[in-house]
Amino acid sequence: MTIKELEKLLSEMSLEEKVGQMVQRSASVMAEGTIVTGPEGTVDSEEMSVGLIGSVLGKRGAGPLHKIQKEFVEKHPHHIPLLMMYDVINGLETIFPIPLAQGCTFSSQLVEEAANIAMKETVAAGVNVTFSPMLDLVRDARWGRVVESTGEDPWLNSQMAKAMVRGYQSKGKLAACFKHFAAYGAPEGGRDYDNVELSERTLREDYLPAYRAAVEEGCAMAMTSFNTWNRLPSTGNKWLLRKVLRDEMGFDGVLISDFAAIDEMIRWGIVEDSREAAKLAIKAGVDIDMHSNGYMNHLVRLVREGEVDESLVDEAVMRILKLKNSLGLFEQAYAGFEEDETALLVCDAHRKKACEVATASFVLLKNEGLLPLNKTEETIAFIGPYVDNINIYGTWSFPEKPKNTITVKQAVMKKSQEVLFAKGAYVLDEGQNTRMQDTEERPVSEELLLRAAVEAARKADKVVLCLGEHRNQSGEGGSRASIGLPEGQLKLLEKVSEVNANIISVIFSGRPLELNKVENLSKSILMVWMPGTEGGNAIANVLFGDVVPQGKLAMTLPRSVGQVPIYYGQFNTGRPNPTGIKIGFVHGYIDESTRPLYPFGHGLSYTTFSYSPVVLSQKEMNKNGTIVAKVVVANDGDYAGTETVQLYLRDVKGSVIRPVKMLRGIEKIKLKPGERQDVSFVITEEMLRFYNADMEYVSEPGLFHVFIGTSSDTDNMAEFLLVSETE
Ligand code: NOJ
Repeated sequence: MTIKELEKLLSEMSLEEKVGQMVQRSASVMAEGTIVTGPEGTVDSEEMSVGLIGSVLGKRGAGPLHKIQKEFVEKHPHHIPLLMMYDVINGLETIFPIPLAQGCTFSSQLVEEAANIAMKETVAAGVNVTFSPMLDLVRDARWGRVVESTGEDPWLNSQMAKAMVRGYQSKGKLAACFKHFAAYGAPEGGRDYDNVELSERTLREDYLPAYRAAVEEGCAMAMTSFNTWNRLPSTGNKWLLRKVLRDEMGFDGVLISDFAAIDEMIRWGIVEDSREAAKLAIKAGVDIDMHSNGYMNHLVRLVREGEVDESLVDEAVMRILKLKNSLGLFEQAYAGFEEDETALLVCDAHRKKACEVATASFVLLKNEGLLPLNKTEETIAFIGPYVDNINIYGTWSFPEKPKNTITVKQAVMKKSQEVLFAKGAYVLDEGQNTRMQDTEERPVSEELLLRAAVEAARKADKVVLCLGEHRNQSGEGGSRASIGLPEGQLKLLEKVSEVNANIISVIFSGRPLELNKVENLSKSILMVWMPGTEGGNAIANVLFGDVVPQGKLAMTLPRSVGQVPIYYGQFNTGRPNPTGIKIGFVHGYIDESTRPLYPFGHGLSYTTFSYSPVVLSQKEMNKNGTIVAKVVVANDGDYAGTETVQLYLRDVKGSVIRPVKMLRGIEKIKLKPGERQDVSFVITEEMLRFYNADMEYVSEPGLFHVFIGTSSDTDNMAEFLLVSETE
């Protein structure tokens, strides 16, 4: 349809029909088998019938969605199709690693390819919108939704945001919806749904860039967040939604509330009732009410009684109609449904890519010579509750056939028959809480499991211990006050270490965990996060050296939960303490180092890379100029490998304090043993900008440090002066 035709349609719609477009309910109002992530409600109100709503959420499957759409469109007075929305976070059927792991690939290309495959499967399943990417910066590992984020760094998250939006929207058949606007990743104490206390400067400098990147990439939709900022729930914050998101960032897509977030403003204590909540939300700029009673029950009357201007409804509806139009729904309401669903799901090509992304996301934290494993010459025991476990796909995935997931055991058996296996422990301790009241079957006693595992460990040359968090210990509503492994698994680690010192720990997790005991008792550690459908194959490939690890931490690993929030881009303080160990009146703790267990950007390979000192093309740069920073990277080891070369900048003195390091570039290079390669980064003035003391986004003349190295911990540094034109 042309814009003129859309405008004509809008002008012919009754107020009830228009408001209907702004109402979303879970598909359970029309069909069974829907995923619902909050309290359910009824649909038929005095003002609104289910036949007028504009979109549904939580259902997938071409067949059932086609049926819903067909019946709906035929009955709708203007035959306006529904938008079908679903949470496809890290794949639909072929499950990719969790977003946090995808961040650890440091590869926009792989992340885009993963999103592209997710898009194909999602479109084939009849879905028009995915509630992804989640772009909430997170620096507190207690927060359960860290699993959905690509990590702690604004710059890296922005690259990932763009890659995901490109991947999802490349065919024009699926709309991406970035979320949760804004700063949902910073709730106090890491407690989900809590208040957020951030300065406007921190919000703008660190939290907004990834959302802005999604807008720049043309992301079709955005979602508000559950949290408050500046003591206002985002869903009712006009400054945030109209001024920052629409006017400053230029977002002209559809803005949806999070699930029931409009009505939740009542409990926040910001409005009296649902009617007031609806009024606040529409004035703030929310186009679609996801599953609360506000718009459905009150918006028509609010307009009729003159409390809300109808033009606000019109502008929201126009945006929704435009989105439906851009997805081709007016021409073909069943767009995508004609595709052969089964041919696309979990096919070999998708598996292959899922395996590649997973291997690239694994982070080799340490390796004291135990990896890679030797297939023929050693006896290896694979022990732990994640050895033969298909629940390795993260919190947001609900594959139709979870059995498509390859376990570590299945994959290892394909590589070598001479391997011992033992479960050793259950994932959870008896009675331990997760966010979903999960129960594990416990057919044999913990004692028996442990005994069998110790026996296997005694017979082996090396032990691979597959340990980790339960998939539902992270995710929405999955915040934790302690972020260690369950006690039963720690006991397993201790007992095994008493009979075998050659321990390789493979850690499954939806968040950075506290891993001190694992660090102390393991010679090698591989973080595999929640690796998805191909997890087992990817792990076996890396452990046996068929693929060389290359992942880098997208989030700092703390030594203890007391250190969080801990992230590499912190400030120097007036009493810096480079050693991290506190003596006297310097920054830090008296009972803990301020250094992390492993820093952001860290990740080893089976080979070793060396870096030449950083060389700059000149020592001064004016604001229109550029500087080229160069290093030579050499592969000094015995394996071909991929290194992620990282560029960090430091603004040594600013009108407001500046972080000790800021990631501003990454370059992935593949080197054979003995090979070396020049790697250059062009530094522009734009990369040096920040919100100065007057909240202007500018660079300031002065000294800058340029670091290029293998992690955020690098001290490979050169310096230059940014000079103003007049100097
Ligand atoms: C609530 C979650 O916060 C959001 O991320 C999700 O997209 C919606 N529920 C819909 O399931």
